[in-house]
Amino acid sequence: MHIPQQGLSKEEILHTLQAFKSRDADWKAGKVWCYIYNPGEDPAEVTREAYLSFLSENGLDPTVFPSLLRLETDVVRATINLLHGDSNAVGHLTSGGTESIMLAVKTARDKARVEHPEITQPEMVLPKTAHAAFHKAAHYLSVKPILVDIHPKTFTVRAEDMRAAITPNTILLVASAPSYSQGVIDPIAEIGKIAQEKNVLFHVDACVGGIHLSFMRKLGYAVPDFDFTVPGVTSISTDLHKYGYAAKGCSVIMYRRKDIRKYQIFACTDTTGYTLINPTMLSSKTGGPMAGAWAILNFLGEEGYKKIVEEVQEATKTLINGINAIQDLQVLGEPVMCMFSFKSDTINVYQLADEMGKRGWYIQGQFSTPLTPRNLHISVNQGTMHNVDVLLKDLRDCVEIVKRMTPIDSDAIKATVGAALQSPDPEAALGQLAESTGLAGTELPTEMALINEVLDAMPDELCNVFLVNYFNDLYV
Ligand SMILES: Cc1ncc(COP(=O)(O)O)c(C=O)c1O
Repeated sequence: MHIPQQGLSKEEILHTLQAFKSRDADWKAGKVWCYIYNPGEDPAEVTREAYLSFLSENGLDPTVFPSLLRLETDVVRATINLLHGDSNAVGHLTSGGTESIMLAVKTARDKARVEHPEITQPEMVLPKTAHAAFHKAAHYLSVKPILVDIHPKTFTVRAEDMRAAITPNTILLVASAPSYSQGVIDPIAEIGKIAQEKNVLFHVDACVGGIHLSFMRKLGYAVPDFDFTVPGVTSISTDLHKYGYAAKGCSVIMYRRKDIRKYQIFACTDTTGYTLINPTMLSSKTGGPMAGAWAILNFLGEEGYKKIVEEVQEATKTLINGINAIQDLQVLGEPVMCMFSFKSDTINVYQLADEMGKRGWYIQGQFSTPLTPRNLHISVNQGTMHNVDVLLKDLRDCVEIVKRMTPIDSDAIKATVGAALQSPDPEAALGQLAESTGLAGTELPTEMALINEVLDAMPDELCNVFLVNYFNDLYV
């Protein structure tokens, strides 16, 4: 587009913007089983109004906008209280889980730079199930990720394997409560003991679990300790824009003590410009997400969250039992809260996701790894829980449809990928192969099964290169 010579009317603009959404997944009808956390109409309306009322205020400088300092400290303290931090615990609001995690890694790296200057190649020890945000942090911050295998049945890491991966270069241990992929909690208490024994920082990624698990615990569900109650846990990330049902752009990074958090904060007076003091990655930032989060916490209150959590857990139980009752599908591991994944030994789950897509559902595919089969992921929340029975019916129907379809020949695809890997330029050969499945250019694919099959057969490193190239072309 070019900026028009004459501006358009408000009506034209809003109409066009709405029209852009015509191919988007129908999240409002509760048909998208990831990405969206919908608290329902009234809470969403309150959040929206609160967000818009702080849209223009700039979080860059709390001395000019004390209201934002108030909003941030209120929301952070409420989250710390929920996660059993004491009065020494501190934190900040960030734009999301990724930023919270990147800051936790930066803090650990910079603390080690001061306290352990002998460490020239810092390492962090991560279970294989840890979120990709840690890999991104490693990449951006030059910290080496040391990956630890998980148990192939429980999908949790073994604490002793974490211990074995610690070296004199270790600056941070990481575990999830729960991990996104299978929704299971790592042995946080045992890893906390190791962290204390080895005197190393320990971050718990409770981005998805922080709020939901805390209310499950208040309701009497069996939830292992995962927060500041565990000695040795030094930082926790909890996203309010997931199961806190806040508007997007809001996560909390928390530290057990201020003397750890100080390594997160950046100040700069070395320019001709204004004095810059940034606790987080962003500098200028809207106050919208802070006000939105403050509003939803106060609007729902403990009782509101408990009601949602109880209903979501009931729906999840129905869904898990219903999926396990379909002979061709099996839920993986023992998910603790309302997110899980399922596999099939008899049908291609990527084809199943496409068939469900034709009925308007979005269910996310996850690739196989040496320790996990390919699977489909589901996160249940307030905005989707009412659809559990319809989803189950469509799953049953679609499994039968996929059974009658020509199956994708996985072995043939593996062989073609293998041949491409042997060619003189594997990157180009794999790129051509993926392109031939429809993943190229600026048009978005409508069916993903064949594409996923090819990507799943590629070695991770080359798959990543291919995906980077794909996005480099997609956004013109
Ligand atoms: C466990 C976990 N950690 C971190 C993240 C990253 O969060 P965000 O997408 O808000 O950056 C996610 C996202 O789903 C997650 O599930």
